[in-house]
Formats: sequence, structure tokens, C-alpha cells
Amino acid sequence: MPDFYDDLRLAHILADAADAVTMDRFKALDLKVETKPDMTPVSEADKAAEELIRSQLQRARPRDAVLGEEYGTEGSGARRWIIDPIDGTKNYVRGVPVWATLIALSVRGEGGPEGDDGVVGVVSAPALGRRWWAVKGGGAYTGRSLSAATRLHVSGVDRLSDASLSYSSLSGWEEQGRLDGFLDLTRACWRTRAYGDFWSYMMVAEGSVDICAEPELSVWDMAATSVVVREAGGRFTNLAGTPGPYGENAAASNGLLHEELLRYLNPTRRSV
Ligand code: IPD
Ligand code: CA
Ligand code: CA
Ligand code: CA
Repeated sequence: MPDFYDDLRLAHILADAADAVTMDRFKALDLKVETKPDMTPVSEADKAAEELIRSQLQRARPRDAVLGEEYGTEGSGARRWIIDPIDGTKNYVRGVPVWATLIALSVRGEGGPEGDDGVVGVVSAPALGRRWWAVKGGGAYTGRSLSAATRLHVSGVDRLSDASLSYSSLSGWEEQGRLDGFLDLTRACWRTRAYGDFWSYMMVAEGSVDICAEPELSVWDMAATSVVVREAGGRFTNLAGTPGPYGENAAASNGLLHEELLRYLNPTRRSV
């Protein structure tokens, strides 16, 4: 049994609870949506799901710290739960089913220099009827439950001209001076699709997409997704090619195409 298996089981219980809340309000005609100071939407379901996860964690793991997108940091210590109650809020509020609750446990010293990577990650997308999860050292899986699961493996595609690239957002590349590199990358790939949000990473993990890269992320976008990609045999790094600290960018791939992906997104490396 891998370490942190009890925490993985707890993360599934938390995801079940969040699913009930998020599905209950999905497509509700009277869904309350506010605009945050950064002009992005947040719905009552984002807040309710995070509140519920926090209150269950308080009972089950009172000594652990928690960081969530909507309510910030609580507690301190080496063990920290990192929560994105709804990844894909813009989809959620428009009735598009591509959104997920991301739940990770990170442990300082176990996942990247900042402890930003999960040792446990659960990605639950109830409107798609999908869930993905991983525990460090134990592989990545998809299925309905821990006992009804299929192991995930990244693809074996090793040429960009055969590769499928997925992304979520272009904003951010231009101000970082990487937009030309990204557009060149799309031209070099076999196909490019904006599956978006957590879904790009999960498709890398299950081998239906080969590379993806995102600007403008936060730790809660990456903590659960990174452990799933890695445990499926892929690479998940910042644009320097190291496993964190992440800043706002992330690159994920099947591993075989990772160095090429990084070369396109780092103008200084392209001429080398
Ligand atoms: C967003 C999604 C999106 C990314 C944004 C994030 P949210 O998260 O991950 O793919 O491009 O930068 O903020 O707000 O839907 O949880
Ligand atoms: Ca997010
Ligand atoms: Ca969110
Ligand atoms: Ca948000």
C-alpha cells in the first residue's frame, strides 16, 4: 500500500461531498454569481463546495493546513490540503459540463521544492461522469471508485508532427514574450484543441493529448493535476523544466516531447 493511501481515501470522500453540492446547483436558473476583483466569476457553488471540504477536513485532519482558492490559507505545517472547489468556473456558470473539483494533499519535502505538488490528487468532474486520481508512488487511475478503476498511462507519441496539443488560455503568453513561441508550437503539432482547465492535463494523463502548457495558473490548479500526470508516466514542470516552484506557468506532457515543448516556450532556448 503506498504511503498516503488513507489520505487518498479521504480525498475521495471529500470529492463525493463536493460533487453533491456542485451538481445540485449546476444549471440552476437562480445560481448566484459574483465578479471577483480580478474580474473573474465565482458562484455560490464554488464557495459552498470549498466550505464543505474545509469543514470535513477540520473534523478529519484538524492539524493539517488548508489552502483554497476562495478562502485562502488556514493553519500551517508540513501537511497542506490544496483545494480548487471548481476548476472551470466560467464553464460552470454557462452550463458547460467541463469543470472539476481539485483536491490535493501536499507534504513539504515530498513534492517539489515548495511542496506545491500533491502527493495525493483527486480530480472529480461529476457533470462529465469522470474522476481521476493518483497517490505518489501508487500510479494514476480513473474510474467510479477506488475499487473500480483503470490505470492511466501517457501516450508514446514522440514527434511533434504527430502530437496533439491542448490548452486553456492564450492570455498571459504575450506579456511573457512567449506568444510567438506558442503559435509556432501549434503549427508544429498535428492538432491543437482548447479542451481547457483540468481537462487538458487529464487527457495527457490518459494518453489522448500529448502536450499542454498554460500561463496564469495558481498552485490550486496544479497541485492535484500534477500528481496525476506524473503518476501516469508524464512530466509536469514549470517552464524552466523543474518540478516547481511554479509561479504562474505549467507545462505537462507525455515526457517524450517535454524538452521540445519547453524549447518553444523559452525564446532564449529556441536558438540553442
Ligand atoms: C481557471 C482555469 C483556467 C485558467 C485560469 C484559471 P478557475 O481556474 O484553470 O484554465 O486558464 O487561469 O484561473 O478560476 O476556473 O478555477
Ligand atoms: Ca482553477
Ligand atoms: Ca476555481
Ligand atoms: Ca476562479
